[in-house]
Amino acid sequence: MPKAELHLHIDGAISPQMMFDLAEKNSVILPYKTVEEVEAAYEFSDLQSFLDLYYQGASVLQTEQDFYDLTWDYCLHCQADNILHTEISFDPQTHTERGIAFDTVISGTLRALKDAEQKFGLSYKLMLNFLRHLSEESAQQTLQSALPWAEQITSIGLDSSELDHPPRKFERVFAKARAEGFKIVAHAGEEGPPDYIWQAIQLLKVDRIDHGVRADEDPALVEYLIQHQIPLTVCPLSNVRLCVYENLQQHNIFKMLGQNIRVTVNSDDPTYFGGYLNDNFFALADAFPMTQLQAIQLAHNSFTASFISDQQKQFFL
Ligand code: HPA
Ligand code: ZN
Repeated sequence: MPKAELHLHIDGAISPQMMFDLAEKNSVILPYKTVEEVEAAYEFSDLQSFLDLYYQGASVLQTEQDFYDLTWDYCLHCQADNILHTEISFDPQTHTERGIAFDTVISGTLRALKDAEQKFGLSYKLMLNFLRHLSEESAQQTLQSALPWAEQITSIGLDSSELDHPPRKFERVFAKARAEGFKIVAHAGEEGPPDYIWQAIQLLKVDRIDHGVRADEDPALVEYLIQHQIPLTVCPLSNVRLCVYENLQQHNIFKMLGQNIRVTVNSDDPTYFGGYLNDNFFALADAFPMTQLQAIQLAHNSFTASFISDQQKQFFL
């Protein structure tokens, strides 16, 4: 099925083998001796327990070529999974905080995306995420570093540790991002309460919500999402691996789809959560009696919820 992916952290697409190879090349010491040990460490109890490993894993990335190789590897998975359009996120602060230049990160990432566009027609947009556990000032500085690249960046998002870091902490920097013409996205309602989704909508004025599954707890919010067709980029395997749901059968994605909320399926951090986009669809098909019509609706939503132009949407739909 042709589809788009809208919620993908590029640092979350590093394979254990690549992590190992880059660690050796760049003389980074990892607390694992084998690829199997890396995979065995991927047992998470919540978002933070994952993020601790995710930032450690990202520390092996150092050169422009490293960012190219990481992104190229993900683009090949897009080709394999029939993803025609992808909107990938990158977290510059993960790298600038440890002395890697913003330009190194973005130029390697973009070079791979452009190659994939040229070689097999992959359509893409780039999203820059602020790390919400860091300060507003750090986000402001990151936005400044991004401005020379504004033509290449479509949207600004917000990720990392959600609890205790509400969207309101970043109200001013997102106002500036909006004024610069960026689309706005935020992780909200993954672990955090429905109020964080309201804040993302009312204070950050988001065009789309990453996750948003806890919206379900607030009927007025559900009504608002339906009325305004604000898309949710849902990540089923991620939600189970981070213990948002005990198992996939308990996931609310089909409930929300049935309510006419614009939900989409995404992989989030595929190498950490046990699957790329097709794996997420297959897991849903195993856990639910997913009909062909539901699968098509989810794929259709992935294009309508994307930031491609209306003209390009017509081409895909
Ligand atoms: N939530 C918050 N931050 C993240 C995630 C996520 O699912 N993946 C990578 N950074
Ligand atoms: Zn995410």
